Amino acid sequence: MNIQEAIEQLRQETIDTLTPTLTEEQTQVVFAAGDPTSPLMLVGEAPGPQEDQQGTPFVGPSGKLLESALTQLGLTRDQLWISNTVKVWPNTRNGRSLKTRPPQAAEKKASRPFFEREIELIRPKAILCLGGTAAQAVIDKSFKITQERGQWREGPHDTPTMATFHPSYILRLQGMAPADGAAALQSFIDDLRLAAQRAGLLKEQDDG
Ligand code: URA
Repeated sequence: MNIQEAIEQLRQETIDTLTPTLTEEQTQVVFAAGDPTSPLMLVGEAPGPQEDQQGTPFVGPSGKLLESALTQLGLTRDQLWISNTVKVWPNTRNGRSLKTRPPQAAEKKASRPFFEREIELIRPKAILCLGGTAAQAVIDKSFKITQERGQWREGPHDTPTMATFHPSYILRLQGMAPADGAAALQSFIDDLRLAAQRAGLLKEQDDG
């Protein structure tokens, strides 16, 4: 079985197992997307409402920010493997609308075996975690994004792994404190560049 077939089988198994656990407020399981032979894996926390609707990770506002950062580096999302540690949209009712909330322990536990098998199949050359929650799931439970962002660590299967800010944090910061938001965005692009270089997708001298 080649990697495409193996990942397709895992996608189907993830969907078959987690679909019966969906609530009325969730549309579908969001597995992962991109090139399964990519040397670079991006890991977010959990899908949001747009991802839940479309069944693909990072297609909402966070995804737009990610895509624009990738464009600045001369990369496209199709060149990467883009995933989340949790495969369903964690939400809570807020009056008439639904709001994204942090995933609960049971949701993390249900997705974990599929996420682990996914890393085993993809075997990227580098992993970039988007946000502290993803880094805690992939690198270390006590990971602190404010202190350890942008530093290489040893991840699953000894894979060089780094964490950067979550795009939604950058978007919030841009709305509250534009100068801080601009600095966070620059750090995000720099981290993305380093991760792409480590994976061999960009040459060291490529400055984007
Ligand atoms: N935030 C995430 O962590 N993942 C997504 O897929 C979308 C938003």
